[in-house]
Amino acid sequence: LSNGLGSTPPMGWNSWNHFACNIDEKTIKRTADSLVSTGLSKLGYIYVNIDDCWAESSRDDKGNLVAKKSTFPSGIKALADYVHSKGLKLGIYSDAGYYTCSKKQPGSLGHEEQDAKTFASWGIDYLKYDNCNNDASRPTLRYPVMTRALMNAGRPIFFSLCEWGDLHPALWGYNVGNSWRTTNDISDNWDSMVSRADQNEVYADLARPGGWNDPDMLEVGNGGMTKDEYIVHFSLWAISKSPLLIGCDVRNTSKDAMEIIANKEVIAVNQDELGVQAKKVRMEGDLEVWAGPLSHYRVAIVLLNRGPWRTSIIAQWDDIGFPPNTAVIARDLWKHKTLGTKFVGNLTATVDSHACKMWNTWNHFGCHFDEKLIRETAD
Ligand code: DGJ
Repeated sequence: LSNGLGSTPPMGWNSWNHFACNIDEKTIKRTADSLVSTGLSKLGYIYVNIDDCWAESSRDDKGNLVAKKSTFPSGIKALADYVHSKGLKLGIYSDAGYYTCSKKQPGSLGHEEQDAKTFASWGIDYLKYDNCNNDASRPTLRYPVMTRALMNAGRPIFFSLCEWGDLHPALWGYNVGNSWRTTNDISDNWDSMVSRADQNEVYADLARPGGWNDPDMLEVGNGGMTKDEYIVHFSLWAISKSPLLIGCDVRNTSKDAMEIIANKEVIAVNQDELGVQAKKVRMEGDLEVWAGPLSHYRVAIVLLNRGPWRTSIIAQWDDIGFPPNTAVIARDLWKHKTLGTKFVGNLTATVDSHACKMWNTWNHFGCHFDEKLIRETAD
C-alpha cells in the first residue's frame, strides 16, 4: 500500500498469542516498558499491538467504539500517549465484519470511516483487520473500504490484513494493505509453525517493500517448541521477510527466547533494504535449502532439517544463484562467526533434527560490503 509505511517488514509485539483476551492497559504499558528496558525496541521492535478484546461490546450512543472500562479505564488515547512517550507505536485491532472473532466487541463493517477517524484521533499507528462474522461478501469488497478510510483519516496507519489466506490476499493485498496473512492461526508447535512457513512461501514473488506476506505472529518464548525449533521459526520468518511480531510475554522472557528474538544479524536479514522474500531452492525429503538475495549482492541461506535425524545438507551454488566456480564467504548468523575458508560450488553443513543453519554469504561482487561493516552491525 502506498502510504509510506512498511518499507521493511513491521517489527513489534502483539498480545494475542500469549494473552488472547486476557489483556488490560497495565499489561500493555508494562510490555512497552519491557520492550525498552530489554533493548528490544532499539533492535526495531517498535509496534505494541493490542489484539481482540480491547473494546466494550457495544458502541456508544454516537456509534463510536469505546475501550472497555473495566480493563482499559484510561482509554486508548492515554495508552497511545504513554506508548509514544517511550518512542514506540501503538497498534489496535478491528474486524471487517459485524463482530470480531471473540464476539466480544463490534467489528467495523459499515463503520469504516468513523472507526478510522477514531483510531487516528487516538494516535493509533497500526491496524490489524480481522475477517470474522462478516456479511459473506468478498474481502476484496470489504477490505478496501477500510483502506480508503485509513488513507482519509489524517494519520499514517500501517494496515495489516488478517484474511487468513483463504482468498489468496497475496494476489490482491498490495494495493489494499501493508501486509496480509497467508495462513490461518499459528499454534505453538513445530508442525503448525513449519506448515505456515510452507504456505507462505508459495507467495514469495508477491511480497515487496510496502506489502508483505504474513505467516502469522511469532511463538518464540511461549514454551511449546525446543530452542532449536524456535531458532528455525525465527530464521524462516526472518528470511521470508515476514512481520516480526513477538507473541510472548516480554515482561518475563527466558534467556533462550531473548537470545533468539534479539539476534541482530538475523533481524538484519529480515530488515534488509532489498526486501526480497526467500524461497525454497531445493527440497530433498526432509531436507531443505531456503535462499534469498540481500542488498550488496549477498545471499541469505537457511539449511533446514525437518526430519528426525542429524544429517548433512548441501547448498549448491547453482541453486543459490552464485556462479558454480565462485569462491564464497559465509557468515554463520547464529554462531556470529565468519568461516575461515571460502566455499567453491557449495556449502555443506551437518544439521540436527528440527534445526537449521543460517548463513549470510557473498562473493567478490559483494566485496565492497566489508567484514568490518558486518561486525559492526553484529555488535
Ligand atoms: C483470528 C486471527 O487470525 C488471530 O490472529 C487473532 O487476531 C484472533 N482472530 C482474535 O480473535
